[in-house]
Amino acid sequence: MTEIEREELISTAKAAINNDPIGWFDELYDLANRNSSMIPWARMSPNPIMIDWVKENITGGKALIVGCGLGDDAIGLEELGFQVTAFDISEQCINWCRERFSESSVDWQVADILEPPAKWIEQFDLVVEIHILQAIPDGGIRELAAKNLPKLLNKDGFLLCIGRLDNGRQMIQSPPWPLKEDWLKASFSEINLHGFTQFTYQESIDVTRYYAAWRN
Ligand SMILES: C[S@@+](CC[C@H](N)C(=O)[O-])C[C@H]1O[C@@H](n2cnc3c(N)ncnc32)[C@H](O)[C@@H]1O
Repeated sequence: MTEIEREELISTAKAAINNDPIGWFDELYDLANRNSSMIPWARMSPNPIMIDWVKENITGGKALIVGCGLGDDAIGLEELGFQVTAFDISEQCINWCRERFSESSVDWQVADILEPPAKWIEQFDLVVEIHILQAIPDGGIRELAAKNLPKLLNKDGFLLCIGRLDNGRQMIQSPPWPLKEDWLKASFSEINLHGFTQFTYQESIDVTRYYAAWRN
């Protein structure tokens, strides 16, 4: 990507974020035109923290990936033997996943965590949310999104969340907004905390991150 293209992308994204805090995602996937280097969060491989946690805690079953992005986490769980449903609010993003992984049996769906389909309620052994709550602004809709996650778990199902943690030292004006540990714990207080771990990556040591799991 050239510097000019990059600046254009950033200014379009900023304008879109201000006008439409969720809809800008579809605009970004559209602008990227299948060039994954234009998607800042695209790792193009499954999240290693998720893979390690899953291997240690659960073997197979029905999994739901919330806000699946370019789909690698869904494929990672499929390879671990899960029957996977993966959804994103962006139709462009889901079309891209279907093209990338046309051989996969993942059920790719366009859906909104603010209004999940009724047929998903209490259905999943594992629900995974990576960098989604922190991408949704607070003041109502983030709380609604969080409230909907436990509803998707079947009896004994696990919720796994991974993201940035508010360490009280960051002044953040635009997404991703780091989340407070207290807020996360209060949001899922109706299910059982299974573990909450802070970590950093060597290459971005100032960014405090967390992975946390709850069990229904
Ligand atoms: C920061 S990206 C993270 C993507 C992926 N989980 C990852 O870790 O690479 C946030 C994703 O959530 C999706 N998203 C945002 N709001 C959503 C909503 N209300 N329901 C479903 N997906 C949503 C966006 O389209 C985007 O793909």
